[in-house]
Amino acid sequence: MKSSSLIFILLLSLSIACQEKTTQQSAVALVFDEPFRPQFHFSPPSQWMNDPNGMVFWEGEYHLFYQYYPDSTVWGPMHWGHAVSTDLVHWEHLPVALYPDDNGWIFSGSAVMDLKNTSGLGTKDNPAMVAIFTYHDPIGEKEGRNDFQTQGVAYSTDKGRSWNVYEENPVLKSPGIKDFRDPKVFWHESSSQWIMSLSVKDKISFYASSNLLNWKHLSDFNPDWAAYGGVWECPDLFPLVTEDGEEKWILFVSINPGGPQGGSATQYFVGDFDGKSFTSTTQSVKWLDWGADNYAGVTWSNVPEADGRRLFIGWMGNWNYAQVVPTHPWRSAMTIPRSLHLSKISDDYLVQSRPITELKKLRVKSNPIDGKEIALDGELLELELNLAADQFSMVFLNELGERLTLKSETGNLMIDRSQSGQVDFEESFTEVQKAPLQGLEVRNLRIYLDRSSIEVFVNGGEMTMTSIFFPNQPFNLLKIDGFENSNQLHHLRSIWHD
Ligand code: FRU
Repeated sequence: MKSSSLIFILLLSLSIACQEKTTQQSAVALVFDEPFRPQFHFSPPSQWMNDPNGMVFWEGEYHLFYQYYPDSTVWGPMHWGHAVSTDLVHWEHLPVALYPDDNGWIFSGSAVMDLKNTSGLGTKDNPAMVAIFTYHDPIGEKEGRNDFQTQGVAYSTDKGRSWNVYEENPVLKSPGIKDFRDPKVFWHESSSQWIMSLSVKDKISFYASSNLLNWKHLSDFNPDWAAYGGVWECPDLFPLVTEDGEEKWILFVSINPGGPQGGSATQYFVGDFDGKSFTSTTQSVKWLDWGADNYAGVTWSNVPEADGRRLFIGWMGNWNYAQVVPTHPWRSAMTIPRSLHLSKISDDYLVQSRPITELKKLRVKSNPIDGKEIALDGELLELELNLAADQFSMVFLNELGERLTLKSETGNLMIDRSQSGQVDFEESFTEVQKAPLQGLEVRNLRIYLDRSSIEVFVNGGEMTMTSIFFPNQPFNLLKIDGFENSNQLHHLRSIWHD
């Protein structure tokens, strides 16, 4: 071939390659801007997502796996989707990590770094990231068996990029109880063993292991005064220390239905764990979040001690309507990451959720809020408000007259999304959400508003409400009443586009 033709062919293929790249890039630029697409919350590029799974920190990356069905925007055969972040704010989407296999679909679970190589699945120099999850066998379920949920293990020695399924799965078989799932595992230093919290119908069972592969039953937790409106799911057991240095163990248990707004919600217990059993110090039902849309949330493992935070993320959805919300081509998002704190008030304990400080980097423009009507010049907002009166109200409005209201009234904090835009996909979606203040004096609010969600933090985390909504146009006006003049409005940038 003549050299001029060779050069021509080379140039041609180069230009085709460039074109392809540009097409891919513009395709990437196009997604994440659909109506209702969260702009600073994690959501999958497309298809169905529910619970956060396997959250673990390793070598500078926060891993977020999640319940994922890559073939549809409704729930189906579960996989583990995967994303990583170096700052918990910006996320990189990675390929699906775990696929259904002969043992079943991959339900919720956790991941740990096996730093001492107790499992032998990695080495001490290159420890394995070990995922412990539930296998849900749809064939066994169809056959009417009651042992179709078992626990399995998979591991990665390359920062979660590729996964091997443990050959002798399952590692924990069902004792013949249909709901036997959502293992959350951590290394318990004082008893030198791995502890697994597992949802077993309407109780939490604790198991222990020296190697993540053989598990023995330790104890069960199901006090008669707890909330039992539905099946118990997605437990998490971890210590928190009060400002006075007192350590308590916190047990999260998500329940569905039976939440305070109907459907899904997460209750928690504050108590002690001695390496065998958990006992609750307090004896009243506590909700982590009073809004309708924070479910199945758990905390990251292996966060460096120098950081020291207990970091949480929840699924911003409710099983009452998650599968029919008007989003396309994806369904569901996660809450913003939160850090958890324990406070003691008289004899009672309170788990507080606070937005992680890293989110401040999203602020593009900050203005004091003057007056009672504020024109909004963007739809991604963070508001810091101090109360000036006993009662307050704030309404986000758009030109179609659609509105989202947050207010205090008759001893409750309330979110009303009944006229917030698209609401008629499920009857209960329009119900006003009420959180009883029970003597809590609201002093200040911090609010995060994304295209289709609001997260409200009262008094730095003493009460939280999370709710989704679907306006047909962005809200461009805010009306407030009952606040001081010193309030701040921050416009935020998208984490997907600059
Ligand atoms: C909670 C849950 C878990 C289960 C998973 C299935 O939302 O029901 O108990 O493992 O979702 O997707």
